[in-house]
Amino acid sequence: MALQPRNADYSFDVAIIGSGAAGLTAALHLPRNAKIAVLSKGPLEGGSTDWAQGGIAAVIDKDDTVDSHVADTLDAGAGLCDKAAVRFIIENSAQAIRELDELGVEFTREKNDYHLTREGGHSHRRVVHAADETGHAVEHTLVGRVSALKNVQVFEQFTAVDLICEKDAGKPRCVGFYALDKNEGKVVTFAAKIVILATGGAAKVYLYTSNPDGNSGDGIAMAWRAGCRVANMEFTQFHPTCLYHPQAKSFLISEAVRGEGGRLLLPNGEPFMQRFDERLELAPRDIVARAIDHEMKRLGIDSVLLDISFKGPDFIAHHFPMIYARCLQFGFDMTKQAIPVVPAAHYTCGGVMIDLNGRTDLDGLYAVGEVAYTGLHGANRLASNSLLECLVMASAAARDIAGRLDKTPAQSNLVPWDASRVRDPDEDIVVSHNWDEIRRFMWDYVGIVRTTKRLQRADRRIKMLQSEIQDYYANFRVTNNLLELRNLAVVAELCIACAMERKESRGIHYTLDYPDTDDSKTPQPTILTPSPRV
Ligand code: FAD
Ligand code: SIN
Repeated sequence: MALQPRNADYSFDVAIIGSGAAGLTAALHLPRNAKIAVLSKGPLEGGSTDWAQGGIAAVIDKDDTVDSHVADTLDAGAGLCDKAAVRFIIENSAQAIRELDELGVEFTREKNDYHLTREGGHSHRRVVHAADETGHAVEHTLVGRVSALKNVQVFEQFTAVDLICEKDAGKPRCVGFYALDKNEGKVVTFAAKIVILATGGAAKVYLYTSNPDGNSGDGIAMAWRAGCRVANMEFTQFHPTCLYHPQAKSFLISEAVRGEGGRLLLPNGEPFMQRFDERLELAPRDIVARAIDHEMKRLGIDSVLLDISFKGPDFIAHHFPMIYARCLQFGFDMTKQAIPVVPAAHYTCGGVMIDLNGRTDLDGLYAVGEVAYTGLHGANRLASNSLLECLVMASAAARDIAGRLDKTPAQSNLVPWDASRVRDPDEDIVVSHNWDEIRRFMWDYVGIVRTTKRLQRADRRIKMLQSEIQDYYANFRVTNNLLELRNLAVVAELCIACAMERKESRGIHYTLDYPDTDDSKTPQPTILTPSPRV
């Protein structure tokens, strides 16, 4: 029997931090004789995956081709996609859908075929979906399958704090991590031969976001602190249409609503997208979000309108049952009226740099899903390419890990958690105030339209807050809120640094000081390298 490494509370072959589409797919594809942990900082179904609406883009239709899906992805990505990553992920799209189908996900069908919906930037109908709750159908099935595996132990309400790295023959290697056990209120130590970050995105760094509460970019911040490169953090995608209502917390109105004919209107009923792009409502998201932002600022209005009422009650209730019901709760009947919508931060296109096996810069550490940067999305993500990336990259990483697990030694001795921080926080207001401040200045200064001056303002503020947060973190017992704040601050700093480096407008990154795309040289991703740790 393997010995428990010294100072470890738990020991696994593979520990997966995150239980969304990426983390659970990895767990299902790893060998059954591997001892696996899956952690989630909330309930298992608490990430973005469960909230996904529109669907999963895949080459399924007989008239569609990999080349066409690749071309649409490259077009949306505005010259910044990694072509090898794009092709690899899209070539594996049909297989990813087949696997979900075999696992029991009930996709919407028309006769015997999948019903394929359409979304912005796609030249074909190619989005496989389960009505307007695709994410829930996928997550629910994956949770059921993973929970039934005897080799997987699930840890709900455990927030990973930091990775543990040790030198292995002079080379740093990830050998585990610390996690806050929220049930017990104490920090515990996990040892693992391989750690997979599947912690999702970081859109919570913005005041208005379509994302669930936990999306504070923990994985990106942990990997950065552990010495991994991070890329393209200037590209946070703003979804054009979230419901505008004080209680709706930026509830997403799926792009599929526009895909099925929904029109964007000004309050006087006038359409406006024809002034911005010939693809109208189905232009890529950056264009639609900027057009809405422009009209809101030009007219001094709080929202624009999205109208699909002309499709009739049967069509709407059949295609968008969940969105229809939620809008009704807020007093809007989509079958009879246009609904008020605004853009909100939706997706982190950048992240921890990985290769096509999911390997990061740090030996023993993988990253998959929204936390990672593969190069698929470039300067702007094509709708419904994200779940696809989660599925394909998680199985690629699992395959790679399976091939090396037996040769990877277990660590015998881990650096213990520094338990000197035993004092309870003296002023929780510091955490909540700093939290609000970061999210507000990110929205105001690093949002849909940027300027160099605004970025400099944001940079000054984040530097000041960073030192306050570090000081607080060093002195007080850790809480979930403090951990998320500490990570949000890192994410904000990375977003600002990337945005300041990019002296052009491209895809989602738009700055009034450099309004044109610089086509004078081959576009490059913005890659940040952490300073070496002493
Ligand atoms: P998530 O599903 O977000 O899961 C992250 C997991 O990590 C969670 O289990 C969380 O608890 C855990 N975690 C995070 N930090 C820690 C920590 N420190 N310690 C322990 N656990 C941690 N994409 C599409 O392709 N199609 C769509 O139709 C679509 N619709 C969307 C609709 C909405 C409203 C939103 C918000 C997103 C949508 N997206 C869509 C994007 C897509 O859902 C996400 O990119 C994708 O689900 C991310 O999956 P993931 O597995 O990487 O992370
Ligand atoms: C949506 O349904 O509009 C979300 C799709 C996505 O984010 O890819």
